Amino acid sequence: MKAPQRLRSLIEEGLIDTVVRQLMSGKEAMVYVVRCGAETRCAKVYKEATQRSFRQAVDYTENRKVKNTRQARAMAKGTRFGREAQEAAWQSAEVDALYRLAAAGVRVPRPLNFHDGVLLMELVTDAHGDAAPRLNDVAFMPEQARTHHAALMTEVVRMLCAGVIHGDLSEFNVLLAADGPVIIDLPQAVDAAGNNHAQRMLLRDVANLGGFFGRFAPELLSAQFGPEIWALYERGLLQPETVLTGRFEARLGPVNVADVLRVVDDARAEEKARLLRLQLAT
Ligand SMILES: Nc1ncnc2c1ncn2[C@@H]1O[C@H](COP(=O)(O)OP(=O)(O)O)[C@@H](O)[C@H]1O
Ligand SMILES: [Mg+2]
Repeated sequence: MKAPQRLRSLIEEGLIDTVVRQLMSGKEAMVYVVRCGAETRCAKVYKEATQRSFRQAVDYTENRKVKNTRQARAMAKGTRFGREAQEAAWQSAEVDALYRLAAAGVRVPRPLNFHDGVLLMELVTDAHGDAAPRLNDVAFMPEQARTHHAALMTEVVRMLCAGVIHGDLSEFNVLLAADGPVIIDLPQAVDAAGNNHAQRMLLRDVANLGGFFGRFAPELLSAQFGPEIWALYERGLLQPETVLTGRFEARLGPVNVADVLRVVDDARAEEKARLLRLQLAT
């Protein structure tokens, strides 16, 4: 196909030889299959902030580290320089997360380059070498569903041990490669230690996967992997090798009012983000 404008500079730089085809255009990016010499790769082109939908909402970007205070002030004020800095921070967050997670042994696409707002990475493929399907495009036998779900719980634990929560994990952001599930799409990844919404996001990520695989293996619908993982993490007991049971006994002690208020605040913030998304979408 004719190379799209946003990929031209990568061709001029010799990072890409040809553009083969466009993969599904996601909510926030356009993704292409490209050739580099003998290699087939994947190029993710981030849409401009104004075309993106929602994930820059405050709860995701809270506590995201910014390199200098001039940048931080400009971002807070929303000047053009500030918006550009925010944009760059958003895009490079995915590259950072990919490197961090690959180092922690999580199966993510291997990042290869980041140039002009384009992420070049490994193309995740199925057994025929074609771009791998997303989980939501595949139907599973109960046993396969259990196996993939267990593999993904291990990945979620590894990520959390590396201090990262995906924040938008679901059947739409997991590809089924020839050798099993691969987690993708990480620009909104959240820092587990420094974000007040970390627990809620972890629970939501895990619940999304339980809900999806539960369609094929219904016992997963009542499993308690999220609360189990979070309780171990909070007590400093979570290890990449931790064997999960899917069971969790809530300890009935005195209620911590501060925790309850935080959940209420979170629900409010989520509603606000939802309204903002609706506003941006119209
Ligand atoms: N490394 C990859 N290998 C193969 N397909 C990919 C890869 N990265 C993304 N895709 C495809 O592109 C789609 C959109 O990418 P994604 O990273 O989820 O961006 P968005 O933010 O637009 O959802 C994915 O659902 C998947 O089908
Ligand atoms: Mg996606």
